[in-house]
Amino acid sequence: MLDFAPDDDLDRDFATAVLAGLSAPQMVVPARFFYDRAGSELFETITRLPEYYPTRTEIAILAHHSADIASIVGLGRAVIEFGSGSSAKTPPFLRAVAASAYVPIDISTKFLEMAAADLAAKLPDLPVLPLSADFTRPLTLPIGIAARAKLGFFPGSTLGNLGPVAAVDLLRAFGDTLGDDSWLVVGLDLRKDTAVVEAAYNDAAGVTAAFNFNVLRRINAELSGTIDLAAFVHDARFNHDLGRIEMHLRAVHATQFTVLGRRFALPAGATIHTENSYKWTLDEARLLARAGGWSPVAVWTDATDYFAVHLWRRDAAPVEP
Ligand code: AVI
Repeated sequence: MLDFAPDDDLDRDFATAVLAGLSAPQMVVPARFFYDRAGSELFETITRLPEYYPTRTEIAILAHHSADIASIVGLGRAVIEFGSGSSAKTPPFLRAVAASAYVPIDISTKFLEMAAADLAAKLPDLPVLPLSADFTRPLTLPIGIAARAKLGFFPGSTLGNLGPVAAVDLLRAFGDTLGDDSWLVVGLDLRKDTAVVEAAYNDAAGVTAAFNFNVLRRINAELSGTIDLAAFVHDARFNHDLGRIEMHLRAVHATQFTVLGRRFALPAGATIHTENSYKWTLDEARLLARAGGWSPVAVWTDATDYFAVHLWRRDAAPVEP
């Protein structure tokens, strides 16, 4: 039950999550709310920063090894990309695996329209069947690809923004969506020297800090928030116990504010936790695959072992005794 007045302009999911998250003992705002228009643009800028190695490293691994993927899974599968965004980096992969169809799945219809137009220009013979949906739940794929062999594609280490339990649930949903005889390509950032990871989330130009602060700006703009941004600093640190970098907004002095009329207070030093980014070792990632109903088949890394592209096959339904 919502405890704020109904308002058609209000993003109810955002409002509900923010009010619940700020009411928790450790305040949280779910990371998915980073990605409004400004946040998505800031993230695009992050992917080009010198300190932020994941995007360019993954692109290089895929450029070197997509042909290996094709030789294992076979040419001509339908490629289903989860959280495809603008699909800007996908065409080389689609060419390498000779995709017989492409299903970009994204919650944003605007992104899907852009992707379809761009792909029509780059790969005019490829059937593109966009699906506007929340891919965290099992989905019914377009009828046109029902009979085709399928290859799921989930690059960008997006899986790393989920904790182990949610990641397993998501992998199981992917298995249900893709069905028998499917394969999945997953990009996951690797565990490495803490200094390298922390630098990637504390870039010198301050773009990651701006990305983090964007969620407070959204709360102020969209949920009648009165948060004093100057009372917070960006804080990104590696949590060794949990194998993840955590992003927080830390109060530099005691501060109070309201959101949709509700009052919140933080003492000096307390934080709002905004994101986790897990860095899975190769063995942990294999375990994650198995728990999620997939068999690890192959993995490729870059020369520095910064990033891994995993290839998993869907487990056959177990035959019980
Ligand atoms: C989208 N995701 C994989 C990024 C990451 O590295 O966890 C989001 C990000 N957060 C700060 N910088 C980039």
